[in-house]
Amino acid sequence: MRLTVLGGGGFRVPLVYGALLRDRAPGRITHVTLHDLDAGRLAVVRRVLAEQAHDVPDAPEVTATTDLHPALRGADFVFSAIRVGGLEGRAADERIALAEGVLGQETVGAGGVAYGLRTVPVAELIARRIAALAPEAWVVNFTNPAGLVTEAMARHLGDRVIGICDSPVGLARRVARVLGVADPASVRLDYSGLNHLGWLRGLYVGADGAEENLLPRLFADDALLTSFEEGRLFGADWLRSLGTVPNEYLHYYYFTREAVTAYSRAEQTRGAYLLGRQARFYDEMARGGSGALAAWDRTRAEREATYMSENRQVSGAGERAADDLESGGYENVALALMRAIARGETATLVLNVRNGATIGVLDSDAVVEVPCLVDASGPRPLPVSQPAGHETGLIAAVKAVERCVLEAAESGSAQSAVKAFALHPLVDSVQVARRLLAGYQEAHPGLAYLR
Ligand code: G6P
Ligand code: MN
Repeated sequence: MRLTVLGGGGFRVPLVYGALLRDRAPGRITHVTLHDLDAGRLAVVRRVLAEQAHDVPDAPEVTATTDLHPALRGADFVFSAIRVGGLEGRAADERIALAEGVLGQETVGAGGVAYGLRTVPVAELIARRIAALAPEAWVVNFTNPAGLVTEAMARHLGDRVIGICDSPVGLARRVARVLGVADPASVRLDYSGLNHLGWLRGLYVGADGAEENLLPRLFADDALLTSFEEGRLFGADWLRSLGTVPNEYLHYYYFTREAVTAYSRAEQTRGAYLLGRQARFYDEMARGGSGALAAWDRTRAEREATYMSENRQVSGAGERAADDLESGGYENVALALMRAIARGETATLVLNVRNGATIGVLDSDAVVEVPCLVDASGPRPLPVSQPAGHETGLIAAVKAVERCVLEAAESGSAQSAVKAFALHPLVDSVQVARRLLAGYQEAHPGLAYLR
């Protein structure tokens, strides 16, 4: 089996390769092709992977190229994990929004809209190439904003593209842990929404027909409620008011003012911090520094420990607990997904796929984030309960924003781009939306297509 990783010089590629190394079953990935525009970063990542593979018998062979066509030809799976504009672009997305007093974040609010406007045209180009060069390949989209980008790629690849994120499985795992569930994989999740905009409404254990929802137990117990990341982030009171456990990214919607204030006061944005930290790693390694794997792992640990630190500060959540540091691990989601498809090992995973009739307020082509049953024929959404009124409102509003981004990318219309910013629930004026687009166009050459 051949896997191609687009964005193969990316910082998280060793996580993916680590998951592949742990897979010993027949039918596993035997060849990995890394594709990236940056040959220097490819070389650094290859060194890390070589150290990972040291002592592992039959480790997947790794090749690297900056040429897209040979990278795609013959691929069974393609992981798309690109970052258009790099971390410099992310830092600008964050900074320009914050300068307007609105949320500047990688995937949420104005920052997410800017990132989407920049990324969708590139993702569509890649999707068209895959459709032509590897029409049988399954495409796993890691590229953010993941739901929007998956929907853009699905216009060319249909159900062969599947979007993934580690946050829903991380949430489910944390809730299962505090509820004392021995095998988190055995629970049935009632989770739905869009990527980074979903709610856990039920966590069921027991056999069909005699299922028990464990969430009421969680809501009845303050100590349990504040013993995991989302509980500390949102507070016991608010979780009880909602009657659901929101994805951590909902913090930006429920505590917008505090988040914007904290982000504005921060010495540097998250993108700027990561840019500096990762550039140091890549530079040291490019200069021939030794111990690539150890240096990578130190940088990774720092990154994870500081994840969403401003949000945690705002809610007095304190340091991220060691137990909560273990995220869902998107590399594990990706591996489980590939195994299910390639070997028919049925799995239930929360994925970004076409809605069909799952969430009533959205049309069938809208990409949503829901639990899916995956087998050799790909993922199929499982039934979930319908979102509550306010959840429906947010889902519909943000999907409308995504559709404006898709329309802007297709037509090159600046008017649609302004509409995308202006309709976002976290942007509070059309005037602000106009200035945002102007500011982003000044910063990003990749937005020159909007007129
Ligand atoms: C989680 C999200 C990703 C996001 C990342 C940002 O893993 O699921 O979609 O890109 O966090 O983390 P960072 O360390 O880059 O701020
Ligand atoms: Mn994500």
